[in-house]
This record gives sequence, C-alpha cells and structure tokens, in this order.
Amino acid sequence: MVRVLDVRAEHRRNTLGIGEPQPRLSWITETDIAPWRQAAYEVEVDRTSCGRVESDASVLVDWPADPLESRQRVTVRVRTWGDDGDESPWSEALTIEAGMLDVADWSASWITPAILDPLDRPAPSPFIRRTFTTAPRAVAHARLYVTSAGVHRIHLNGEVVGNHVLAPGWSSYTNRIRYDTHDVTSLITGGDNVIGAVVADGWWRGFLKWDMLRNVYGERIGLLAQLEITYDDGSTDVVVTDDEWRSTTGPILAADLYQGENYDARLELDGWDRSGFDDTAWEPVQRFAPDVGALVAPPGPPVRRIEELAVREVLTSPSGATVLDFGQNLVGRVRFTVDGDAGTVITLRHAEVLEHGEPAYRPLRNAEATDQYTLRGEGPETWEPTFTFHGFRYVEVRGWPGELDPADFVAVVLHSDMERTGTFSCDNNLLNQLHSNVVWGMRGNFLDVPTDCPQRDERLGWTGDLQVFAPTAAYLYDIRGMVGNWLEDLRMEQRADGTVPIYIPSVGPEFLTRAAGWSDAVTVVPEALHAAFGDSGLLATMFDAMRAWVDCIAAEAGPERIWNQGTQLGDWLDPNAPPDAPMLGRTDSKLVATAYFARSAQIVSDAAGVLGQADLQATYAELAAEVRQAFRLEYVTPKGRVMSDTATAYSLALEFGMIEDPDEYERVAARLSGCVAEWRYQITTGFLGTPAVLPALSNSGDSSTAYRLVTQTRRPSWLYSVLMGATTMWERWDSLLPDGSVNPGEMTSFNHYAFGCVGEWMHTVVGGLAPAEPGYRRLRVAPVPGHGVNAATATLRTPYGPAACDWTLDGHQITLAVDIPPNTSATVVRPGLPDPVDVGSGHHEWIYDVTAEVVTAWRDESWNPGP
Ligand code: BGC
Repeated sequence: MVRVLDVRAEHRRNTLGIGEPQPRLSWITETDIAPWRQAAYEVEVDRTSCGRVESDASVLVDWPADPLESRQRVTVRVRTWGDDGDESPWSEALTIEAGMLDVADWSASWITPAILDPLDRPAPSPFIRRTFTTAPRAVAHARLYVTSAGVHRIHLNGEVVGNHVLAPGWSSYTNRIRYDTHDVTSLITGGDNVIGAVVADGWWRGFLKWDMLRNVYGERIGLLAQLEITYDDGSTDVVVTDDEWRSTTGPILAADLYQGENYDARLELDGWDRSGFDDTAWEPVQRFAPDVGALVAPPGPPVRRIEELAVREVLTSPSGATVLDFGQNLVGRVRFTVDGDAGTVITLRHAEVLEHGEPAYRPLRNAEATDQYTLRGEGPETWEPTFTFHGFRYVEVRGWPGELDPADFVAVVLHSDMERTGTFSCDNNLLNQLHSNVVWGMRGNFLDVPTDCPQRDERLGWTGDLQVFAPTAAYLYDIRGMVGNWLEDLRMEQRADGTVPIYIPSVGPEFLTRAAGWSDAVTVVPEALHAAFGDSGLLATMFDAMRAWVDCIAAEAGPERIWNQGTQLGDWLDPNAPPDAPMLGRTDSKLVATAYFARSAQIVSDAAGVLGQADLQATYAELAAEVRQAFRLEYVTPKGRVMSDTATAYSLALEFGMIEDPDEYERVAARLSGCVAEWRYQITTGFLGTPAVLPALSNSGDSSTAYRLVTQTRRPSWLYSVLMGATTMWERWDSLLPDGSVNPGEMTSFNHYAFGCVGEWMHTVVGGLAPAEPGYRRLRVAPVPGHGVNAATATLRTPYGPAACDWTLDGHQITLAVDIPPNTSATVVRPGLPDPVDVGSGHHEWIYDVTAEVVTAWRDESWNPGP
C-alpha cells in the first residue's frame, strides 16, 4: 500500500495568500513496501492532469501549470508510481490561494491618526474603525489583506481577526514589508459591519537597540487594509483604509517591546468594534506615505501564542517582594485574572534569574520589561498585554488586591509558529536538560527575527549568532520560511561593496561594518538550509549575495589571501577573554577571519556546483584553495601546530578543510585532542570555536574527547549551566557565577542560542542522524556511544518523511533500530563495527556484540567530570 501524504506548496501546508505565483510542490509517501523509490509522479491542478513525469523528485518540484494570478485559488493532488510499477491513489487535495501578487491589486491607502504623537516616548495606542454595509446577498468568501507601520491587531464585528501576534513582524521595512491574508468569510454579517484596528509602535517606532533609538522607520504609525468580499453571484465589495476611518485612543496608554505595556481598563471603549457604536467624537484619520518597500506575502509563519505555562511557585524575596516562578525561562508575557476595586494598579516586572533571591533586572539594561494594569473594577477581569513581549522566568507582582492565587496567572509562550521536526533524548538526564535548554533557547529567539537575545535592550538579528546555530535550528524546527524571510532582508541590506551588516535588519549606527563569522551568515546559513531542506532555489536566490561577500573579502585581503585588516569580533566570548572585552579571545582573530574567508569561498564554489555554474565553481574553488594555502603558510607549523595553539584554532583548521595533507591532518587532530585535555576538558572556545570543536573531534575519530567535553560539569562547560539550574542557553559560559551572582559583564543574557550549537553534535553523533545529501535525500546514520550515554533516540521529519535512529548499549550488546524515509537511502555506520552498510528506505534493526575493548573505550570510566 502506497499513500501520498502531506502535499505542500513552498514547503507550507497553509498556503492562504501565498506570494509565489509558481509554488514548488513537495509530498511524502507512506508505504509498507521497503525499500521504496519513486519512479514517476503525476500532479493534477484543478482536476486537470499535468502529465505523468518519470522522476524520483518529490521535494520542491517545479510548478507544473500556468503561474497563479493574484487571489487565484486552485487545488492540487499528487499520485506516484514506485519503481515496482505500483500506483498510489491520489493524495488529498491541497488548496493553494495566491495573495496579492501585484502592487496594482492594492486600492487601499495608508492611514494614520491625524495628531502626531510625542516622539520621545510611547504614546497611547490608536484605535481606528470604520463601518460599512454589505449587499443583501450571501457571502461566498471574504479576505482581509492587512499590514501596518507598527504592530497591529484587527477586529471585525466584535471579533479579533486571526491569531497572529505582533503582526506583521519585523522586516527591513524600507525594502519590504509583509502583509497578512486572513479568511474572514465567517465574520462578515448582513447589513452593517465594523472593521477596526489597534496599532502600536513595535519595531517601527518603538525603542530599538542598546542606544535606545526611537522612530527608526518613521514618526507615524498606521495601517493598510483591504477587505474583499465576494458574494454568491460573483459580485464583490471592497473596503479599504481611506479617509472614512476614524480614530481615538483607549486603554493602551503605552506599549513598547522593551518597556512593556501600560493598560487602564477604565478607558476601555466598549463596543467600539461593533455596529451601533457612536464614534462621532473620534477624529478623522489622514492618509500618509510611510517609507516602506514592496508589499510581500510572508514566506514564513506568523508569531502565535504557542503554549501556556502555569506558575510553579510563588516566592517571597528577602526584601519582601512577591515573585512568581514559572519554572522555565521563556519568552512571551503573562495573562492574569483579577478581581478588585476600580483604579487598583497592578505592576508586573519580568526577570530571567534571581540573584540572591531577588529578581535580577540589571541584565535587562535599559529594558524596563514592566507591564501595568489598572483595574476597571466590575468583577473578574482578565488581561494579557497585546503589543509587547518579555524574556523571563520570574515575575515580580506589585499591587495585587487581596490574596494572590497562582492559578490566576499563566505565562503565554510566543514565537514564530514553526513546525517542530527534530527530537533527541538519551539516558543521561543532564544532557537531556541541556538539549531542552537548546530548544528553549531557540524558541525564545525565533520570534519573527532570529535574535541574539529576547529580553534586554537588544533583541537584534545578529548574523553571527544564527550562523553558528543554523544547523541545530534546522534540525529542531522547519525554519525555511522564517529564516528564508530573514535572508531576504539580509540580501536587501547587503551593501554595494558586498559587506553584510553584523545584524539584520540593520538599524542605527554600527560599531563594526563587517566581521568574520558574522557577515559570513550570508554563505553559511543558506548552505545549512540547503543541507537540511534541499532547497537549491534558495541557493540560487542568495548566490549573488554570497559571491559578492566573498569578493568583498577577497578585495580587502588582497593577493596575500590573508584577511588581516580591520577589527574583528573573533572568537567572541572565549571564556578566557576578559569579561569586559569579549573580543579579546585567546585565538588570533585574524586567523579566524582567514579561516572563514576560505570557508565562505568554498561554500560559494559548492553552491555554484549545485546551480550548474561550472566556471564559477572552479573560480571559487581555486580562490578557496589559495586561501587555505595562505592560511597554512601563515599559521600552521611544519609539525602541525596551528598558531594560537587553541582549541578554536585547531577546530577551525580541521573543520574548514584547511589541512589537506593526511599526515598533517592527523597531527593537527592529535594536537586538538591534546589541547582539550590540557584544559581539563573545560570549554575554551567562544562563539566561533564552539560549533567546530565537537565536530572536529568526532570527525577526526576522537568522539571520546568530545564526550568528555560535553559531560564536563566544571566551569566553564555546557553542563555547568545545567547544574546551576539553567533552563535556556546562556550568553556566557558563566552568566551565573558559582556563588549565584550574575556575571558582572555588560552583556549577560540567560537566553542566547549561540552555544546551543552543541545540538548539532548531539543530533548527529549521539543521536546518529545527519544528511549525507542535501535535504536528507541520503542519510548518514552513525551514532557513537560514549561516556555517560548508553542509549539515545533521535527522530526527524525530513523533507521525505520521518527518520529515526534508536540505539542501546547493554553490556556488550548493541541494539540499533533505524527508520529511513521512503524515496531515500542511507549509509549506516554501526557503532563498533568496521564496515558501513548501505540501506534503502524502511525499518532496519541490528543486534550484535562488540568487543570488551570497544565497550571499555566507550564507557571511559576513568573520566570523572566535575565537580
Ligand atoms: C550580542 C551577541 C552578538 C555580539 C557581537 C552582542 O551584544 O548579544 O550575541 O553576536 O554582540 O558583537
């Protein structure tokens, strides 16, 4: 039995308002036939066959019909034939509906309240509305296309439209701004209707960056909306933002991403979003022209409320403050229900950690992270802020009327609503907690833009942070849409000389124009996405930008091929750098820069190969080879020492292919292991060395040392933070010091995903799952047991379907069970056995004994981590 499931357009299941006129199609096959390989497929668009195609392609297959027009709705079905000739039934139909593909589709005008707000502080959020009348005919369907300068919430006839949070998110607004498409068919009523919106500053006008910039994108906030109603008889009505709308202010006195929200429920505008409300006292709006680029459909999912967490404990701090502990550092906000007198003011202030029992606010720097609610006083009232988010585990509550019941509070977790794809677990609970911290670190920082941190006055799309974390992220969640969106911004914000800014979107003055390992996100992130999802279209889109970056460094480095100009961030946050000078790591930052130069040049060459551009493939391969050669001349001694003699230097040299001679490779690898041992298996690497060190050890055959590094509990190490109670990844190896005080460094976040790059090693070496060909068309399954781990399970929804690897070491016996998705194959390196085996799709199991020496080496019992 063969079934075609999960048909997607541009890797999305929800395709309402899709922006691609020729969306590529993907599907997966479910079958008990093993191995199963697709021999042919047939796509039907609107019940018209596009013909049988002899091909094994099932991921991101070219659109087989005429391009879609704006608003066009089609259904797509797929069926396949296996190489045994067996035919599947038709899949279920996927409905695809195009968004507004042409700027001429918009008849709406941007509108803004007539009065200009003060520019130096958050002002009350405008409520805007208009009434309209529908024709006396049945509504077939209605769509709302909407975006804002600022963030918005839309209302229609008393209901909130959709479940997006902080829409339309943050993008490089001056280049491109996303609009949402909502199906509002069921919200339209016969006769009088009301559409309304509340708009707040968000990223558009609110505080941004540590220097607390304001009005970065404009001084006015506003809305652009177009509601299209189609009646049964095919006739239409269109309601747009125009002069007919009116505005006022209401209960939201101030709303800011960093500062929080201030809401006075006594000022609520009862019934404002329904017909019959008298808005004659409201002001007219005016048209305006915000400085925005193209209106684009979102390539990725919106931010939503993903999960709710209950209070774990109510604490009283030494100073007497009432503090809620949600048991998990998270990103979102608190919703509560309260009963008290009108005018009572409740204040919630958010913190990630306690320092000697008190909420630690210092790490938030200028971000107040404070929400304030004034009661209306007419029975129980429930409130959650609308236009802010905080990074917190603890919330200090002030002004609560009467006894506080923890059941009255809930933490609402917010992030981009990506599909979870990968899981990992093992029989070592410290490593499981570490993995959970990696996942939560990702969740907190994938809130529309992949950020460094979610809590302080920063929250920027730092390129270096994502660059190191991308392979881990691409395993845990389907990040194609969200990161694809960010890469679009990156591409547009690349400077004319090829420079890639160090954070995207780029706002305000930067202290560095470009930096190795940061700007290289332009090459590394598309490559990571290509490896995980097989999207060569993304490489094609990004190729010119990737190339321009490498050309930019090549020009700066000159014929010597050593990139030693300018200031670098280097191996940022090397634990041995001074706390107040994180760029002064032990590894020469120019060595790091040249290693990245070689790597990016090689990635460009490889991408050219994928895209069939043989000339460019050769050109950049030659450049990469020259840089590697220059690197060796400059930094590698004849006997295999790499200058700086640090784990970072050795790891980059090995992982970036700088060492080509096999004997030299052996010597460099041995020195890496030696280096790690000399430092007693404590971490000595920063942002750029850390993603390389474990893979460098394992790829050179020394997973034993990698296991020691990962199971180390002495500071600095990954597990030090776990033992200190971390529930997310920290920015610094010791963001919290052993005595429970917060690291005095200026930058001390408790939610930074960069060091979560350890996830990649956990997934591939402990869990055993890695792509051997882009998109897991072929898998490499190669789990390696090691100290402290006797069993592990990794699962992944690959683009071809679910894969899994599960292994146990019991005495001398290994049990290995592997699931390979249909239409793919795998190389399986069974732990302790010399010869890899090639397998096709299906379930495979092996049970065998390994020798005592092998088991002894894995268990590594002489290794004693910590204290
Ligand atoms: C951010 C980092 C970032 C770094 C680079 C910090 O403030 O939080 O994660 O990569 O600056 O300078």
